[in-house]
Amino acid sequence: MRVISVMNQKGGVGKTTTTLNLAHALARKGKRVLAIDLDPQAHLSAGFGIDTRSQAGVDDVLMENGSIRELKVTVRENLDLLPAGVRLGEMEHRAEGGAKRGWLLKDAIARVRGKDYVLVDCPPSSGILGMNALLASREVLVPVAGDFFSLQGLSRLMSIFEHIEGALNQRTDKWVVLTRFYERRRLAREVRDKILAYFPGRVLRTAIRETVALAESPGFGQTIFEYQGKGNGATDYLALADDLIKGRVLKVSPAVRAKSA
Ligand SMILES: Nc1ncnc2c1ncn2[C@@H]1O[C@H](COP(=O)(O)OP(=O)(O)O)[C@@H](O)[C@H]1O
Ligand SMILES: [Mg+2]
Repeated sequence: MRVISVMNQKGGVGKTTTTLNLAHALARKGKRVLAIDLDPQAHLSAGFGIDTRSQAGVDDVLMENGSIRELKVTVRENLDLLPAGVRLGEMEHRAEGGAKRGWLLKDAIARVRGKDYVLVDCPPSSGILGMNALLASREVLVPVAGDFFSLQGLSRLMSIFEHIEGALNQRTDKWVVLTRFYERRRLAREVRDKILAYFPGRVLRTAIRETVALAESPGFGQTIFEYQGKGNGATDYLALADDLIKGRVLKVSPAVRAKSA
């Protein structure tokens, strides 16, 4: 079972869009998937078209009131969702529980059976929820949007990873996915080269193109495969699922290597 947190403390980079559509892509390829909505805004749950506003989910798991098995809901074939739950927002501000609080998600996921992939949609912050995600996962997937400002948060994100890895003495495998990518823009290609220099051998081969259908589909409670199954968005997320399954990454060209030196 691969546990992968989709993480970037920056908002609007495509974490939720990626979790939603990658989860469905993997499920359509026959993988058994659990998606966890760890963002109090609950956009992932809404994207699957279910109203979870009155429902408990990962909030109860983190407050030790319930298990994933009891609280998950089946949203598609091969695909279960653990909703955010209405009280998830309170978690970030709770002080009691001490050091144990960071490990609650890992302990809960350790009891999950019969899944190939667990994808965790993280909030745009690095508080206790992000800590739970990091401690629970051996892999992180970092969506990076193809604009200049995306580069600015990366060194901070890397230092968060290194801090945790140092404290735990465990390595987290990092994958980067380029999102909201305009192939024809020189800026996007420059950003891609910078990211490649920053994460050599860790950038998944498929860049997710900027596609209006990807922004529209959650409003209809549909994944891209239901909303526009033959467009760029569906093509890109299916290819990304294969990248993740096979570990297919972009090669670092000599020019990029020279820049990073
Ligand atoms: N590849 C894409 N093409 C077009 N719009 C996108 C794409 N990826 C994300 N978006 C849109 O960008 C906004 C932010 O994406 P979202 O996945 O919610 O980011 P995050 O979860 O990191 O905050 C949303 O409105 C989403 O629909
Ligand atoms: Mg989000």
